[in-house]
Amino acid sequence: MPQGIIAVGNLKGGVGKSTIAVNLACALAGKSGRPVLVDADAQGTAVEWAAGGGLPIDVVHLPIDENTDPDEWRATVQGHRETAGLVVVDLPPHWGPALTAALEVTDLLLIPVTPSGADLKATLQALERLAQTRRHRKGKPPTLLVPSRVDRRTAAGREIESVLADMGEPVGPAILQRSAHIDAFTTGRWVGDWARKSAARADIDALASHVKRSLT
Ligand SMILES: Nc1ncnc2c1ncn2[C@@H]1O[C@H](COP(=O)(O)OP(=O)(O)OP(=O)(O)O)[C@@H](O)[C@H]1O
Ligand SMILES: [Mg+2]
Repeated sequence: MPQGIIAVGNLKGGVGKSTIAVNLACALAGKSGRPVLVDADAQGTAVEWAAGGGLPIDVVHLPIDENTDPDEWRATVQGHRETAGLVVVDLPPHWGPALTAALEVTDLLLIPVTPSGADLKATLQALERLAQTRRHRKGKPPTLLVPSRVDRRTAAGREIESVLADMGEPVGPAILQRSAHIDAFTTGRWVGDWARKSAARADIDALASHVKRSLT
C-alpha cells in the first residue's frame, strides 16, 4: 500500500469526487494495511456509503466548513496518516481557509473533471487557487486531472483528454460513466467488490496503479 495523503477535490458538485475517493481508497487497500478515508464534506456521502460495514477501509467524518479550525483539522489528518499510512480525503466543493489548510498537507491532489463547460471553468479556478499553495510549498502538491463520468458516445466525452491536456497538468486514466458505480454505492460496497470483473473496476484499478507510481 502506498503511503501519503491523497486529496480528491474540485470546486464543482457532482463530478464524481466521492465515487473516486472511496473506490480509489478501497483499490489501494492491501494486506499490509487499511487506508483511512477522511470525508471532509458535510454531506457525508462516504460516511453513508461505509455505514453498512461493506468497505475495506476506515471512514471518518471531518467536515470542512466555516466552523472548522484549520490547524486542528490538519493535525487530525496528519495523525491518521501516521497511524494508517495512507489517507484519502474526499473534499467539499467550496473553497475556504480550511480547504487551503488541506492542501498544505496533501501529497497528491486528484481533480475529477466531467466533460462539461461548467466543470472546466471550475477546474481552472481550482488550479488558480492551487498555484497560491504551490508558491510556498516549493511546487507541491502535484495534481492529476481525472476525466470523470465520461461518456465516449458524446463528442465532449471523446475529446476530454485533449481539452484537459491544455491545462498544463498531468491527465490520469479516465473513469467512464458506468452503471456499476451507482449499484456499488447503493449496496454499500466498492465497485471492485460489487462487480469484480467489470470495466468499472478496471478503470479504478488503472487509476490506482497510476497513483501508486506517483506516490513512490
Ligand atoms: N463513473 C461514474 N459512473 C456512473 N455514475 C457515477 C460515476 N461517478 C459518479 N457517479 C454518480 O454521480 C453522482 C455524483 O457522484 P459523486 O457523489 O461521486 O460526486 P461528488 O463530486 O462527490 O458530488 P458532491 O459534490 O455532491 O459531493 C452519484 O449519484 C454517483 O453515483
Ligand atoms: Mg461528494
